[in-house]
Amino acid sequence: MKISRRIADIPMSGIRKMFDLAGPDSINLGLGEPDLDPPKEAIEGMNAAALAGLNKYGPTAGIMDLRNAVAEYCSKFSPIDGNNVMITPSGSTALLEITQSMVDPGDEVLVPSPGFVIYGPHAELAGGRSVEYRLTDDGTFQPDIDDIQSKITPRTTMIVVNTPSNPTGGVLTEENKRALCDIARDRNITILADEVYNEFIYEGEPVSFLDSLDCAVVASGFSKMMAVTGWRMGYLCAEHEVMDTLIKMQYHVCASPNMPAMYGILAALPHMGPYLDNARRVFKSRRDLITRRINEIPGMHLDAPHGAFYAFPSFDLDMSSADLANELARNGLICTPGSAFGSYGEGHLRFSYAADESKIDAGMDILSKVITERR
Ligand SMILES: Cc1ncc(COP(=O)(O)O)c(C=O)c1O
Repeated sequence: MKISRRIADIPMSGIRKMFDLAGPDSINLGLGEPDLDPPKEAIEGMNAAALAGLNKYGPTAGIMDLRNAVAEYCSKFSPIDGNNVMITPSGSTALLEITQSMVDPGDEVLVPSPGFVIYGPHAELAGGRSVEYRLTDDGTFQPDIDDIQSKITPRTTMIVVNTPSNPTGGVLTEENKRALCDIARDRNITILADEVYNEFIYEGEPVSFLDSLDCAVVASGFSKMMAVTGWRMGYLCAEHEVMDTLIKMQYHVCASPNMPAMYGILAALPHMGPYLDNARRVFKSRRDLITRRINEIPGMHLDAPHGAFYAFPSFDLDMSSADLANELARNGLICTPGSAFGSYGEGHLRFSYAADESKIDAGMDILSKVITERR
């Protein structure tokens, strides 16, 4: 059967490739999903909706009660309303729909490197060209504003920004957010802000583009914040003028998001305070553990990441991150090579610490042994 060039030219994600190597007893620190249970209100709310017969198509942009509740939830950053919000079938779909709605063939999209693996392919699926910009390699992983400036051309239409970052755990500073908004406004470029990890901040304050919807569209989701990765529920926020376009795109992608799941999210949102306090406490303690264990290994270095649930340490061995990750997999530890996240990710490995402390400890024992033998 004929396969389109669009998809044939895109390689499979390096994250998924590592799972194929995993033995049944491997320690898996490759998975980017919380191991916590979802809030019970979410499950009860979804069940109740399904039992009450809410199993049909819904409004394309999502039920208005949930759009309003998300707007209310976001009001800590900016006074947006329900018409600024569209519920999407996952954060990934939000990202795809935004790119499909805003990128034309030949347009250039600046994507962070190292950065989440779908930004570049999404630009290319829209017929655009992805251009990597560098994150600073000083342990804070900030967008390198000079590098961004030097890569802007008349064809640049979008800059993707991810805070907190997958894979680095870096959290954008308010100063860099302002610099990015200035560039976007000056050059008539749209910021695509991916904020799916904004509830997972361990030091300092979250930074959001929700107060800058004149130059930014925000993609976010419930997968990570409610530990419901399997439900495929997300949302996006945009100014009113572009919302009709985004809703039209979503109609052609999926008609409407999952009805019972929307009621589950709606039921859980008022209870997120204590749920997230606990999640942050658990993840911060794991973050501290993995940071300490990695820094005890000669030749490895990690500045404690401030957000998300990933550690992105550097290593000083004379081998590629892919070869090192393969060797770790053969020894029973699954992680992701830094090069899977773009050319500026080489020299690093990504470990997810969304796993319990005994697994993190066992994984770090394997890492320590393999690195020590190699040196
Ligand atoms: C940075 C980032 N953005 C978006 C997503 C997509 O999340 P979902 O599609 O589950 O909402 C992920 C998932 O790993 C991610 O790491």
